[in-house]
Amino acid sequence: MPYTAAEALLSRRDFPALQPRGREPPLVYLDGPGGSQVPSAVIAAIEDVYSTCNVNTHGNFPPSREIDRRMTEAREVVAAFLGAADGSCISFGQNMTTLNFSLSAAIGAGLSPGDEILITQLDHEANRGPWLRLRERGAVIKEVRLTTDGVLDPEDMAAKITPRTKVFALGASSNALGTVNDLALARRLTRAVGALLVVDAVHYAPHFPVDVRALDVDFLLCSAYKFYGPHVGVLYSAPGALDRLSTDRLCTQNPSAPYRIETGTLNHAAIAGVRAAIEYLAHWGRGMSLRERIVDAMTGIAAYEHSLGAYFHGAAAALPGVRVFGPDFSTPARAPTVSITLAARTAAEAASLLGERGICVWDGNFYAARAVEILGLAERGGLLRTGVSLYSTREELDRLLEGLVDIVR
Ligand SMILES: Cc1ncc(COP(=O)(O)O)c(C=O)c1O
Repeated sequence: MPYTAAEALLSRRDFPALQPRGREPPLVYLDGPGGSQVPSAVIAAIEDVYSTCNVNTHGNFPPSREIDRRMTEAREVVAAFLGAADGSCISFGQNMTTLNFSLSAAIGAGLSPGDEILITQLDHEANRGPWLRLRERGAVIKEVRLTTDGVLDPEDMAAKITPRTKVFALGASSNALGTVNDLALARRLTRAVGALLVVDAVHYAPHFPVDVRALDVDFLLCSAYKFYGPHVGVLYSAPGALDRLSTDRLCTQNPSAPYRIETGTLNHAAIAGVRAAIEYLAHWGRGMSLRERIVDAMTGIAAYEHSLGAYFHGAAAALPGVRVFGPDFSTPARAPTVSITLAARTAAEAASLLGERGICVWDGNFYAARAVEILGLAERGGLLRTGVSLYSTREELDRLLEGLVDIVR
């Protein structure tokens, strides 16, 4: 189903945070990469858990059976979102970073001194720090080079994957530059040496349909607050992959996947909200199955957001004193996140002046600190980032462009 500006306008009614307040002009919320707003259906799903089955799981009484059922169904819905075989591939956690620390520690427990792990200069620290930590266990960490065009150097990637490489931890898309990385190449190279491929899809999942089986990843992480849900981290593990790892867990805990890496009691209400967010996305698509509706909806949303990103990228590049970073929009493989610098202002000054006009855009390094350092922007306070979501409109981008013209004057 095509997702157009009309659907985007319609969608805005579903998001309480986007409603006009009094006589103030509505907030221009363009920090999608930082986190998306939630539709009423998500808020209602969370409230419903607290109102009807706010009890612990695995009890022999009705509300406990009900929360068990909802947790099982939530895993199935997330599996449909990611194209996974079933809910046994889906683990939940506090956020992506925490899950990735648990994952890296579990993988690290099986490494020998001198084993290599490959990370990238482009990734968010959440997919670097947990792996860098394994240096303490004798692992050798290498990083794939980021070019000045904002893409990872494929030759450098190929050269750095060796028979000693045990893991390649790579982002699907950059939250700083909107780059979409070549996961097919990463898979080919890692398969050839028997290394695990761990993909950070936090910035990718809100903007593209995900198909973990087509990508053939071992592990993939994402975070529901970036795709219209609450703050919950999600880990996909290929069938059997989690069961081979030595995770930190209690002897009282279910040792099989997907529970093997889930410590303590989960946030059941928020997880009900994750399911509602995915069902909300699916309702913008057509198809017989939930998976078909999700893929159809995400394909439409991706095309709409791409058109907004391309519009802003072109318009911002044409402004005097503005420099645009990251790849252009000549192919669909480009996330709709556009970062710029201004000759006349630091990113923080610009964000604060735009904030006074009710325009929300983030400044700095967005935890992609290494990428900002490599681009030589760390001293200047990094980038000013604009990121659209399914409810963003061209009018909002025009308000931002007008604001930029005023502040660079
Ligand atoms: C690309 C990317 N990876 C990882 C993370 C970390 O996610 P979380 O906040 O769920 O730990 C973020 C958060 O902004 C991100 O943008």
